[in-house]
Parts: sequence; C-alpha cells; structure tokens
Amino acid sequence: KVLILDFGSQVTQLIARRVRDASVYCEIHPNDVSDDFIRGYAPKAIILSGSHASTYEDHELRAPQAVWDAGVPVLGICYGMQTMAVQLGGSVEWSDHREFGYAEVRAHGHTRLLDGIQDFETPEKHGMLKVWMSHGDKVAALPAGFKLMASTPSCPIAGMADEARGFYAVQFHPEVTHTPQGEALLRRFVRDIAGCKGDWQMGSYIDEAVAKIREQVGDEEVILGLSGGVDSSVAAALIHRAIGDQLTCVFVDHGLLRLNEGRMVMEMFAGRLHARVVHVDASEQFLGKLAGVTDPERKRKIIGAEFVEVFQAEAKKLTNAKWLAQGTIYPDVVESGGTKTKKATTIKSHHNVGGLPETLGLKLLEPLRELFKDEVRALGVALGLPPDMVYRHPFPGPGLGVRILGEIKKDYADLLRRADAIFIEELRNTIDPATGRSWYALTSQAFAVFLPVKSVGVMGDGRTYDYVVALRAVQTSDFMTADWAELPYSLLKKTSGRIINEVRGINRVTYDVSSKPPATIEWE
Ligand code: XMP
Repeated sequence: KVLILDFGSQVTQLIARRVRDASVYCEIHPNDVSDDFIRGYAPKAIILSGSHASTYEDHELRAPQAVWDAGVPVLGICYGMQTMAVQLGGSVEWSDHREFGYAEVRAHGHTRLLDGIQDFETPEKHGMLKVWMSHGDKVAALPAGFKLMASTPSCPIAGMADEARGFYAVQFHPEVTHTPQGEALLRRFVRDIAGCKGDWQMGSYIDEAVAKIREQVGDEEVILGLSGGVDSSVAAALIHRAIGDQLTCVFVDHGLLRLNEGRMVMEMFAGRLHARVVHVDASEQFLGKLAGVTDPERKRKIIGAEFVEVFQAEAKKLTNAKWLAQGTIYPDVVESGGTKTKKATTIKSHHNVGGLPETLGLKLLEPLRELFKDEVRALGVALGLPPDMVYRHPFPGPGLGVRILGEIKKDYADLLRRADAIFIEELRNTIDPATGRSWYALTSQAFAVFLPVKSVGVMGDGRTYDYVVALRAVQTSDFMTADWAELPYSLLKKTSGRIINEVRGINRVTYDVSSKPPATIEWE
C-alpha cells in the first residue's frame, strides 16, 4: 500500500485517483503524521503532494523524518519536491511570481521513472514531456546524491532523482490530466519502482469501506437522504451492505423531482434492495419556503435547510439515530471549498456539503467523499445495483430548483418536468450509428432548464406568448470540466418539436453551447 502525505494541494485526491487507476491501494494522510505512524503503516512507497505554501515561508510544513528513513521509494510532487530538496540538504529559490500552465520538460540522464515515457515522436523533441506546472518557488540546488532528471527553460531543476535511495521528485503535476503521461509516470513509480502488485479493485474497496462503516457506526442508527441520483443511491447501497436495517433512507419529495422519480426510487430501493425507505412528501413545505426567492445561493441554502429539517424530524422518530449519511463525492468537496486548502474558493454551495448547520445533532457519514464519479459508478456496479440506475446521469440534490431560473413556482416545475422527460426519452431512443450507443449513454449529463422569459410564437393561426426551455447536454469524465455535447441536429429537432407540441406553455426551445469553465453544468 502507498502512503500519500497531503501538504494541502487541491489536487492531492487526484494523486490517489491515479494510484488507484494503477490498481494499487493508497491512503491520504496529513503531512504532519508522526514518525511512529509511518513506521506502523509500513508503506511500500510514499508520495508527497503539492501545496499552496512556500518552503521558504512555512518552516513547519515538512515531511516527517521517518519518510526518509523508511527505506522505501519516495516521490515528491511540486511542493513535495521542494521540501525533499530542503530537508535533504539542497536549496529552494523563493519566487514571487508563479509559473502556471503548460510546459515542455526535457528528461536528463536515464532514470527508471522517466525512461521510455515521452510525448513526442520527432527526434528533436525526443524524451520531452508535455506537463502542467503550477508553482512559484523552485529547487535551486540538488541535495547530495541527487542527479538532474528533468528541466525546462524557466525551471532548470524540474525533476531530480537519487536512484540509490529510490527518491524521485518532479516540479510539475503528474496527477492532473493535463500531463498526458502523468498516469504512466505514477504507474511506473508505484508498480515498477515500488513493486506494488496492482491487484487492488473496487471489490476490495467495498470490503474496506464496509469494515470502516461498521467500525464508525457501531450499533447506532444511520439516516440517509436518498435523492434518486447516482451518488446517494450508491452510498445507500454501500451502507446498507455494511449495516443492513440500521440504515433508514429518507426519500424527500421536495416538489422539484423529475417525472415519476418517486415511484422509480421506491421500487428500486424498497422493492429490490429491501432497504428501509421512508417516502416523505414535503413539496408544499419546500415550495412554500421558496416562494418569492430568486437568488440562486439563497434558494440552495433554503433547500438545504429544509432537507435538514425533514431529516431531523425523521431522525427523531428513530430510537438511536446518530448519523446522517450523504453521497458527497470528491468534486463536491472541492467545489464547496471544503478541502483543507485555505485558498480554495466557493463556487456553489452544494447543499450536501455547504449548508449543514452546526446544530444538526447528527454525525456525518460520507463514505464516497474520496471518490470521483466514475469510481462511484464502478462501486455501484460492484455492489450489484442495476446498470440502468448506475449509469443514470447525476441529478443534483436541489433538483429542478437549480434548473428553474429565479423564482420557483409549481407550474414552472410541472412544465419543466414534462419537457425534461421528453428530452431524456429522445436521448435514450436515439442511437449513434458510429458507436451503436444511445445519446443518453454518450452524454454525461443532460437536462432541460426552465427560463422564466416569455417570447412570441405562432401556432396554427394564433399568436402564442409562452416560456422558453433550454436544453443542456454535456460530456465530461469528472464533472469538474465539461464540454457541451454535439448532439445530432435531427435529435434536437425532434426533441424541440415534441416539447413545443406536447407541453402547452412552452413555445421555444434553445440549446446551451457553453462549456465548463467558464459556465457551470447547472444554470444556478
Ligand atoms: P456544476 O453546476 O457546479 O455541477 O458544474 C457539477 C455537478 O454537480 C451537480 N450539482 C449538485 N449535486 N447537490 C448535488 O448533489 C448540489 O447542490 C449540486 N449542484 C450541482 C451537477 O448536477 C453536476 O453534475
């Protein structure tokens, strides 16, 4: 197993992700764990993450001595490289401007880490790598025993290695997808250099997660908000696997669900998984509180707060409920500024991370907090959830509340639900001849958005003056960045025709051609 020491970078989880991709088990721990902890953990390799800090200014932020004495390979990334240099007798040059973005590094000398890993076929770029850099300070002098492994014009020491001790370090970030060979590099490190077998799978993750949940929860009861989305469903299945009927799922109908959602969720969970599910119809309560509210962040906060109220009321009905479980996944944590990184800014308050009050009175159980979406899906499949459910597009907790722009009204929600169902049906029914897959499967998330704007139209001989619906379909692997999907015109045409003809009250349909960033996936 691999130990990742976190110095507070926003992308530390991506390191874990790449290590798991190489089928190797790893855990992330804070950089200031004790020497005893490291000896007890007995890692086969250690990776030191990046950080926003400066080795120059933060004298506290160092790797424990045991890292260097453990006798196992160590890989320093960015700040991890700098602290390696400083702690082993090299030096770091302070800089007040950051180098940020794409760079090409040249590999020097033959090192096991980089040998044969390259991006270019041409002789003049032989041995060069496309990488993503984000740093201010840089290593100025190699520690004794180290040789130069990589350089760029602006960063002469962009990589260093002491192969006798198995110490490697790179200034760039191999964990991000903008470094195309990063996955190969991390795989080389954990598999070939550290000798990890590569036999870890999602199945083993289930065993570990189940054991951990049992240990955390003991004989107390857990209450979970089931939204019908992939994340909360997978969390429910995982926790149900761990503690059976100690789990009570609460499915709250906030009046902002998709068409037939309630029935589908109840059939699947109560009917198939035999999990205990309470169906609460709180639509009047939610819509009442939301009346007249137009600000997106306030809407999210209100929905989050109402959820908590419903949960608390349901929890009180149980005798021993001490836990609130949620399907929070890693991108939610990052985007709500919930990582340790001080500088991370809040983009949106995803209600399942940002909106919980201190007075909740329940402890939080978030077993998916470290996973990315595709890993959550793999977990769902491994747990035996039906593929139809697991490969469903994600649906946000606040539901149609973030897809009705501005004030939410029941009439708007009813129109949107019907338009959305038509769009999804057409996506499912339209097969792309090139891949043989439906456009639902070819997109990561697709939905309709209600725009409370009226425009003029003509139907038959009459003039209409009705609302607009925007269709959004995106392709993404991690939901942190996304491209709008190039849906066939014929599909858009049929969908728009059906919506305008079948949903009285909508007379115009548009397609959203904005990528994320700068737009987000949801409109609010
Ligand atoms: P954005 O709009 O931030 O969305 O690009 C990224 C992904 O997160 C989903 N999303 C949410 N999920 N609670 C959730 O459980 C929320 O409050 C929330 N807001 C956005 C969104 O649907 C997309 O998949």
